[in-house]
Amino acid sequence: MFTERLQNAINDQINAEFYSAYLYLAMSAHFEAEDLPGMAHWMRMQYEEEVIHAMKFFDFMNDRGARVVLKAIDAPPSEFGSVVDVFAEVLAHEQKVTSLIHNLYTLALEEGDYPTQSLLKWYIDEQVEEEKSASEVLSRVKMVQDYPPGVLMIDQELAGRAAPTPPAQEE
Ligand code: FEO
Repeated sequence: MFTERLQNAINDQINAEFYSAYLYLAMSAHFEAEDLPGMAHWMRMQYEEEVIHAMKFFDFMNDRGARVVLKAIDAPPSEFGSVVDVFAEVLAHEQKVTSLIHNLYTLALEEGDYPTQSLLKWYIDEQVEEEKSASEVLSRVKMVQDYPPGVLMIDQELAGRAAPTPPAQEE
């Protein structure tokens, strides 16, 4: 049964995904201002990915006849630290999102809601990828943090990040 408690928790998660989108958009603006267009692009792709995450929950709620309730999105920071600081913040944020998804899965188990459990498996796998990609970029920017040409090389590489594919188009 799709309980109200679970529906409320999914509405909260929709908000958390939109906050993530907003956070990465703020980081994209930060890198634009810092003249690091590749990193700005990477963050913009990350923003798009978060909108996809939010909309997958949105569609799921509608498909099951539940009521989507959109809540206010908190403002993200407008000031950021060094390149290393920003990617460390991305990794910490993704680890937080992973725990939110795991809590949601625990709730879906408690409520005996099989469709939500099935949906959440996609997010559980996705979070492994999210943490992996944030962690890889963080390790690499740490290696070159005191060597500007190295930062510029990573910036160029990150400019090649492809746009995310919405799950519906993968099927
Ligand atoms: Fe929606 Fe980056 O987790």
